[in-house]
Amino acid sequence: MALRGLPLSLLLMVACGDGGAPVADYDPAKDYFSFANIDAFISEHLELDLTVDFEARSLHGTATLHLRRLQPGVARVVLDTRDLAIGSVEYETANGDFTAAVHRFGESGEYEGTPLIVELPEAVLDDETPVLRIAYATSPASTALQWLPPALTAGGEHPMVFSQSQAIHARSWVPLQDTPAVRITYAARIRTPETLLAVMSANNDPDAPRDGDYEFAMPQPIPPYLLAIAAGNIYFAPIGERTGVYAEPELLEAAVYEFADTEDMLVQAEQLFGPYEWGRYDLLVLPPSFPYGGMENPRLSFITPSLIAGDRSLVSVIAHELAHSWSGNLVTNATWRDGWLNEGMTSYLESRLMEVIYGKDRVDEERVLAYQELLKDFEDVKPEMQALAPRLDSGDPDDFQGTIHYHKGQLLLEYLEEAFGRENFDRFLGAYFDTFAFKTITTERFLDYLDAKLIRVVERRVTRKDVERWLYEPGLPDDAPRPVSATLAAAQAVASRWADGQTKTTAIPASEWSAQATVHFINSLPADLGGDRLGELDAALGLSATRNAEIARAWFILVAEQRYAAAYDAMADYLKRNGRARLILPIYVALSNNGADRALAQSPVRRGQSRLSPDRRGVDQASAGDRS
Ligand code: BES
Ligand code: ZN
Repeated sequence: MALRGLPLSLLLMVACGDGGAPVADYDPAKDYFSFANIDAFISEHLELDLTVDFEARSLHGTATLHLRRLQPGVARVVLDTRDLAIGSVEYETANGDFTAAVHRFGESGEYEGTPLIVELPEAVLDDETPVLRIAYATSPASTALQWLPPALTAGGEHPMVFSQSQAIHARSWVPLQDTPAVRITYAARIRTPETLLAVMSANNDPDAPRDGDYEFAMPQPIPPYLLAIAAGNIYFAPIGERTGVYAEPELLEAAVYEFADTEDMLVQAEQLFGPYEWGRYDLLVLPPSFPYGGMENPRLSFITPSLIAGDRSLVSVIAHELAHSWSGNLVTNATWRDGWLNEGMTSYLESRLMEVIYGKDRVDEERVLAYQELLKDFEDVKPEMQALAPRLDSGDPDDFQGTIHYHKGQLLLEYLEEAFGRENFDRFLGAYFDTFAFKTITTERFLDYLDAKLIRVVERRVTRKDVERWLYEPGLPDDAPRPVSATLAAAQAVASRWADGQTKTTAIPASEWSAQATVHFINSLPADLGGDRLGELDAALGLSATRNAEIARAWFILVAEQRYAAAYDAMADYLKRNGRARLILPIYVALSNNGADRALAQSPVRRGQSRLSPDRRGVDQASAGDRS
């Protein structure tokens, strides 16, 4: 990172300038993670014709890109790729034929993949809408695709493949302009082995005949990181009129029960944020090696099975992915540096939605837990990366500032809501989604809009400068909201009384607590309890055996930090069964930092003992261990 080492004061001057917008040599509107020359051409439509080859662990076929020329005379089109084998590149001639185009790979970047440079011939230089057709195959090493052998699925009989394109992995399964600054519609024909079903972030048809030949259309323009595909022994079950679940049959019933409120969430979200623009909203519940809690692929969020706790206690993730249908999918961050516009705004909408459906107490519990995570991240993240809109021009955009985009972003929006009043703020949000629907925006554009529509219109309790502090400075301003929760405070009090020996283990009222309160209880325990006391707790609350992935996460972090050996088998089993980064990385970090277990912190994935597929990102991050 170019700014590392600069004193903070200097850094802020560089980052903020006078008007608050970043200046100097950093261009906040530029996507530093794409090679595409989007000043000369932008893509508008994509046609995919792909075969899913489980034996070769490859998707192969063609991608046809419909471009629009923005600059006259430019012959060169640069696309993003990573680990793609290119068979041919052709351009469409005036009479509709395709003819070979000169092309070569450019120099690769560490995270960015490899530019594919195509030279258009003289004859089509005056074509305003050039079309390129690329025949290609993905590599088994594609960073977007996980190829699961049958043993890694719930049913154990059929293979499965799924994609994860955010942030810059779409280029590892489709050659395209892989930047959220462009939006494309798409159409796809996908061939799979006959018994399997393919689904995409598109118009899935719950009644499609299972014949191994599937067609999709995505008529709303989306940024490339929302391109998604999965194929496997997947079946559908409805939740409500516009909502349903895709999953392996073994999981379907439990998933429909767990996510039964999804239809209600959709109805309430429309009341709060405006019309849902995407048609259906379905969930795809994947095997546990899916590396995220959820991914907001339009019309079809991809979901970790670890949310299935049996009591609907973890469904805020569903509210989150659904809320992305507005913040992120409808109004999209221009580059990954503006990620808070996606994730912070979505975390705020998630909590508004959760409040309507489950009440303020539940939301306050989640807000307090998020706040605690944020304070912890401030300890681990470099000051210049604690800004909501930092300078970001290198590194891995999947992994640069912990949960700051999420939780600090959410707090900023809560701060604005509080200052301007819920009614004014809701009106502002409605207009924001309306104004920028199907567009991408930078932080600076958001700030200008906020300034024009709220700060300068509604009685000035908050100035532009106040907001700039959130956007460009580390930490939190003094007047930032501080979430509180009476139920979590009570659980915390029990934790300290129990730790002091004033409350008996049998008197811990955990059965009356929410999952969030139990998590907070565990998080509030002192760092030096010792094995006997941890053993008592485990025996009384059944922590090592809990079905709730968030409770297990909190417990096993404690187990690793305090080296409570009696729970190591259960912990190892949990690490083997889960692939969601949030659930496992902090445990590896704790193991790596506890002074004794560095070797154990080697991911079981690497040792070949995991039930999970090798997920490159997970392994790298886990073995980076003491990173935080
Ligand atoms: N879009 C994110 C997942 C993501 C972020 C993928 C950055 C790649 C790069 C998704 O909406 C998300 O935020 N998932 C969270 C759950 C959420 C409730 C905080 C997750 O997976 O933990
Ligand atoms: Zn998100």
